[in-house]
Amino acid sequence: MSRRVSAALALAAVVLPAATVVGCAAPERGEAPPQQAHQGSPDRGKEMIVKYGCGTCHEIPGVDGADGLVGPPLSQIARRSYIAGELANSEDNMHRWIRDPQAVEPGTAMPDLGVTAQDAADITAYLYTLR
Ligand code: HEC
Repeated sequence: MSRRVSAALALAAVVLPAATVVGCAAPERGEAPPQQAHQGSPDRGKEMIVKYGCGTCHEIPGVDGADGLVGPPLSQIARRSYIAGELANSEDNMHRWIRDPQAVEPGTAMPDLGVTAQDAADITAYLYTLR
């Protein structure tokens, strides 16, 4: 074996296992870096979550009475990779989902609730505190 080949193999032996560990640990668990809201008020968002009744269908940490079981719990929603298994989790996509879930996923059990743009931004700001 030439020196160059054996040097490359030695390097691969060192680098590949490290790359495997770093590259796979997070995606295997479905984790993404937590999302950050760049607009909206989390405090007002919490009030809007109560106003629109999101908690009748979702368990939402920090919101009194939000213990619904129709939809998935929204704990750590800032860390999820996907919204409703359809949209990559991002601030814009969260606004879209909250305002018009039926357009994203026709027939989903989550109804269009007539959420305004401002209210969706505030709700997203609160949801992204759940990490
Ligand atoms: C009538 C019940 C119902 C109401 C009310 C409701 N949702 Fe949902 N929601 C659902 C269901 C069911 C899903 C799952 C949709 C899917 O995956 O197709 C969902 C999904 C979601 C998701 C994606 C969760 C995930 O794990 O990917 C978010 C975020 C969400 N809802 C936020 C809200 C917010 C904010 C409100 C209030 C403005 C709200 N929902 C009101 C039923 C509801």
